[in-house]
Amino acid sequence: MTLIEIACAKILQRVEERMISIRGAIEDYIRIDPSVRNVRDVILALCLGTVRNYILLDKLLNYVGISIEKLDNFRKYLLRVLAYEIKFRNIQPDRVARVLKSSKIANVRPEDILKIKEITVEEVVKDLNNVEKLSVIYSIPRWLVEYLLKYFPENEVEKMLKAFNEKAVMYIRVNITRISRDELVRRLRDRGADVIEDEDLPDIVKVRSLNISLEKIPEYREGLFYIQDKASALVSHVAVTYVSDARNVLDVCSAPGGKAMHLSELKNRKIHITALDVSYKRIETENNLLKKYSYYNVDVICTNALKPCVRSRGFDLVLVDPDCTSLGKLAHSPEVRLWIRKHHINEYARHQYKILRAVISNVCTRSTYILYSTCTITFEENEHNIKKLIDEQGLELVELSSFSKFQNPFLKGTLRLFPHVHETNGYFIALLKL
Ligand SMILES: C[S@@+](CC[C@H](N)C(=O)[O-])C[C@H]1O[C@@H](n2cnc3c(N)ncnc32)[C@H](O)[C@@H]1O
Repeated sequence: MTLIEIACAKILQRVEERMISIRGAIEDYIRIDPSVRNVRDVILALCLGTVRNYILLDKLLNYVGISIEKLDNFRKYLLRVLAYEIKFRNIQPDRVARVLKSSKIANVRPEDILKIKEITVEEVVKDLNNVEKLSVIYSIPRWLVEYLLKYFPENEVEKMLKAFNEKAVMYIRVNITRISRDELVRRLRDRGADVIEDEDLPDIVKVRSLNISLEKIPEYREGLFYIQDKASALVSHVAVTYVSDARNVLDVCSAPGGKAMHLSELKNRKIHITALDVSYKRIETENNLLKKYSYYNVDVICTNALKPCVRSRGFDLVLVDPDCTSLGKLAHSPEVRLWIRKHHINEYARHQYKILRAVISNVCTRSTYILYSTCTITFEENEHNIKKLIDEQGLELVELSSFSKFQNPFLKGTLRLFPHVHETNGYFIALLKL
């Protein structure tokens, strides 16, 4: 079997170079090298741990005189993985030597890298200023720490970064047209899962701990639940609360279909959804899910929302859930920090605004509602885009006052969720009317 450190380094190299998810890259890797299939969970934990600590690990390596700057990405990640195992796990010295030997990193001696074990984080950060300290301790790029400090007090930034570096709380959404939440909770508990009903949303279950793989149990195969973050599920609850008579919905950035399927559930499948997406691959995934859960009321079309092939104006509600910097998902997907740069914020914000404008000019009438959401925490992609829509396009904000727990202090009437406050992804939701 391939050494797991080598497998992790190859996976993380691909994650960074192709800007893909760790989980997806692991599945791709296992298809090529099935020898590590049985240690998939160990590989996932090692990759997540390494990425959640990558800046700290580079500092520790530097501290013991090992520079990774001139190394190729594979060797850079291999040293990070080893450094992680030395600092946070109990890797044996002879294994360190074996991994180094097999990867031909000639200038690193096992006895040097093993010194990392004795070095404390305090020692590494002692001469750094506050921004650098936070950046190293939580392994969050310096520009992002600076960005957050512009908007939030330092103690709150620290809490947020800490939450971003912890394992995300897992939620499942019950397919209430097929099973009640009480019944599903009972069945999951019988299977040994520690689950509890969410106190805010009636179809959400919080998973406190698991000794089973949810994807392998019969309830999953039967389509009785869907793994979806609570913040993302809130979007469809907003839709049914505020646009309760919606019958005809357009979802312009729909794949893989989490919100479209949820909305169908909440409307007892008595709603028609036209689901668009520009990515053929993601549309394929969406189609498979719609088939698995038998949603015959959702029609999927591969098209660009900027020039949609759909020109009907008969929609009561348009969902706009576009690509974003995904910074609200750092706990679940820590790899986002490896490639998102500051300039991406404005690039995404411009793209999102263009989609919103295209929606207004192509498919809206004066009675159409637009429900906008992102899984990010930046102001450009959220509040600024919404304020611009109000100022430049004359849209009205519908105040989401029913959801008091999630009120956004930065723009009254919209919702914002934060991992350190709500135990969810960082999220933004706004409802507008033409
Ligand atoms: C955040 S994801 C959507 C998640 C989805 N709403 C759900 O709940 O499962 C954003 C989606 O927007 C799509 N997208 C990005 N640009 C687009 C465009 N110009 N037209 C249509 N879809 C687009 C992406 O392919 C991606 O699938």
